[in-house]
Order: sequence, then C-alpha cells, then structure tokens
Amino acid sequence: MKILLDRQSPAPVYLQIRDRLRQLIHAGSLKPGDRLPSIRQMARTAQVNKLTVIEAYGVLEADGLVQARQGAGYFVNPSPVSTSFESTFAPAQTVIIPADGVQSFLDVSNAMLRAQVRPDVINFSSGFPPPCDIPDLQRIARRAVKNTAERLFEHNYPQGDPLLREQITQLLVHQGLAISADNLIITNGSMQALSLLVQQFIQPGDWVVVEAPTFHGFLSVLKQAQAQVIGIPMTATGMNLDLLEQYLQSHRPKLIYTISTLHNPTGITTDLGHRQQLLALAEAYDCRIIEDNAYERLSFGATPPPIKALDTGDRVIYLNTFSKTLMPALRVGYAVITGADYGPLLERKLLHDFHVSLVSQAIVSEYLASGHYRRRLHHLQAQNQQNQAVMLQALAKHFPPEASWTVPQGGVFLWVQLSARRSLQRFCQAALQANVLVGPGSIFFPDQQGYPGLRLSFAQTVADIERGIAVLGRLLQ
Ligand SMILES: Cc1ncc(COP(=O)(O)O)c(C=O)c1O
Repeated sequence: MKILLDRQSPAPVYLQIRDRLRQLIHAGSLKPGDRLPSIRQMARTAQVNKLTVIEAYGVLEADGLVQARQGAGYFVNPSPVSTSFESTFAPAQTVIIPADGVQSFLDVSNAMLRAQVRPDVINFSSGFPPPCDIPDLQRIARRAVKNTAERLFEHNYPQGDPLLREQITQLLVHQGLAISADNLIITNGSMQALSLLVQQFIQPGDWVVVEAPTFHGFLSVLKQAQAQVIGIPMTATGMNLDLLEQYLQSHRPKLIYTISTLHNPTGITTDLGHRQQLLALAEAYDCRIIEDNAYERLSFGATPPPIKALDTGDRVIYLNTFSKTLMPALRVGYAVITGADYGPLLERKLLHDFHVSLVSQAIVSEYLASGHYRRRLHHLQAQNQQNQAVMLQALAKHFPPEASWTVPQGGVFLWVQLSARRSLQRFCQAALQANVLVGPGSIFFPDQQGYPGLRLSFAQTVADIERGIAVLGRLLQ
C-alpha cells in the first residue's frame, strides 16, 4: 500500500496517514474485514516511527472505521460508522484584495467554446448539465412558437412574459419567497442581471465583497465597472463571516455578492444560521446583497430558504437562471427585486434590449407547463448524484493524499484543493495533452491566483469520470 506523505505540510503525519486510509476505506479499496498493514509494515512503507502509525490507527478506531483485534492487527470495520462521503475542504483563511484586474471573460469563454468542439476530450471544466432530450425539445419548441406566433410581431413587456413570470413566481413561493409576479424581471440569463445590477449600484472605486473563490464572470463584470474587490475566503460552511464583518467595518462596501446554494465553484450550500447572520451583517452595515443561486434547482435534497426569503428590508436581490437546468443558449434568467429598486432596474433593462426573446421565454414556459421541467430536474438530480459518487471514489483512489475536496449536496461540480506548491498551468496543459480538459481554479479568485484548486464537473459518463480522474491522478503523483 502506497502512503505518500507531504513532509512540508502543516498537517501532522499521523493525520495524513489517517486521511489516506480513510479515503481508501470510503473508496472501497479497503473493504470491510480487510486487514490494515501491520504497524511495523506501515512504519516501514511510510518511513515513519511506529508510534506515529499507532496514533493514526488509534484515531481511525476512535472514528469507528477500523477495530483492533488482539494479536491479529487492525481490521476495517464490518459496519463502518459512515460510508457517506465527507468534505475535507479546509483552506487557509486569507482575504484577497487584488491590485490588478482579472483575466478577460472573453478569453475564458472562448477557451470553453473551443473545448466543446473536441469530442475526444473529457471536459471536466464545464459548468453545464448534459443536453435535454432533443425530440422533447422539438415538440416543446413547436408548441411554444404556435402559442406566441401572433405576439412575435410586436414588442413584449420589458419585465418578461406575464405567464412565465407567474410560473416562476409559483416556484419561488414554494421556496419561501413572499413575492408576486410584479417583483420579477426576466433577463437574458443571470449574466445580464449581474451586469445591470452592477451598473445600477456601483460607481468606479466602490468596494464590493465577493466570496473567494467565486463565479469568474462576476469578477469580470466588477472589473469593467472599476469596482474594488474584497475576496472573503470560503470555509467549508460558507463565506467566513468573522472576516466579512471586519471588512464591512473597515471598507464599508456597497454590495455583497453571494452564491448561498451550491456555490460556484466549491458547491457549498450554507445553512439557515449562516444565511441569517449574513443578512444581519448586511443590515448592520447597510449593504445590498446579490444572491445568485444559478445551481439551486440541481440540489439533491431540500435546501434552506434563500436569503431573499428572510429579507424584510428589500436589501437582497435574488437571481436564478434556466441555463443550468435547461439550455444556456436560450438565455433566460430572472431577478427578484422588491421595493424601490424595481422601477429603476426595469427602466435599465428596457434601455438595454427591450426584453428577452419571446420565443425563448415561451419555450421555458412550455417546459414548466408540461411537467417536462420537473421531470428533467428529477432526472438530472439522480444522474448527478450517481456521477458525483463515482467521482468521489475515483478521487479517493487516484488523487494524492494532500488533496482535499468538497462534497456538494447537488449541482454538477466539486472543488479540489491541491498542494500549495503545485503549478496548475503546466498541470492543465499536460492534462489537455492527455485529452482531459481542466481549467486552473485561479480564474475564480479576485487576484487570479488564490490557492491551487480545480473545479471538476461530474456531468460526464461514468467511464469518462473514472478514466479522466485516473489520468489527472497520475499527473499529480
Ligand atoms: C453563479 C453563476 N451565475 C451566473 C451565471 C451566468 O449564467 P447565465 O447563463 O444565466 O447568464 C453562471 C454561469 O456560469 C454562474 O455560474
């Protein structure tokens, strides 16, 4: 058994051994009833003191994963306390205030489009689900055009089609938002909503808080608006709220941008307490919140109510999109805006492009009305959950012990943190030569660096996940 240790890591060696064995047990490489290497054997293989191994085996036993049998050694517990996957994500908590701008979003977006046209490449870098059933789409699109044919010859409402707004409102009321269709603006994807909001609220030089890492598209929007960015680090449970408070106090930002459910790129979903505290801080320091939950409907189970559902002061603007659940090229997203901000934002939307294409809106509306949307969500959730388990097993089997990762409760990707000394540019180039596309996680940090990380999409076939992760693991060893 190979146990690779990182002698420079601040993590004690016995915990590194514990973590590696835990990974092997969770991945099924060490099965219930299997005997762990003897203490002497493990000490020799890992080149550590026998006492270190005894300590490592002791914590595994305390965790209920193995049991000692007198005179016979340590055995993997026949009924491990938990076979579910656990997040090991615990990055250093460093706030990032970038001196310089971010990479052009056009470059990132073009690189993704180029990658899509290579069918021989396993694409771990995309944030989109697999295509819908095409015959279904054709039928739905035909019906949508028929239903709207006459209205296509005139302009429509800037806030969006009334029927679609009603349908979306129903979905949101279900999630706990006390709103009506008059609080909605349908936008050309949530990207347009992000641009309009920043144009509306941010002047050059204003401070804006983002999570670090965060959605790279929003960093580019902030750059174009000449905003100053504060990247508050993510913990395993969401944005670090102690650090947030410090920077709210010292920098008085205008805006906090958060992805509270299935955060891009870490996949983390915050709990209700975190949401309440974040809102209370925004209230105390008089700051708006943009809550951008693009992946929310891909959750495997129930999610806490959005922060917007807790907002009684019209401070939170909630965004979502059909890009991650139906089709990004339809360009249908929406913003929930309550209070006095609604009018000026609607005016801005009208001046921008009148309204979202009525055909796109009608296609989404038909998906919602026909039940195909709900069916698709169930299908995606089941498939993503299965694929995620395959990816987690493959990571535990192939990735080096110093790697840690999140275990999101949904969505299409997870986030891997790698050793601080690794150059990801070269690694990603080598991976592409081996026909595996991964992007360096640096694009998600405000300073375009952060710590070495990878966002890995599991919206692939099981065979591709296993093959691709094995390739990446080999390159990392
Ligand atoms: C968090 C987040 N917000 C917004 C967007 C933009 O999505 P849309 O296609 O709706 O513009 C994305 C797309 O990657 C995203 O990940």
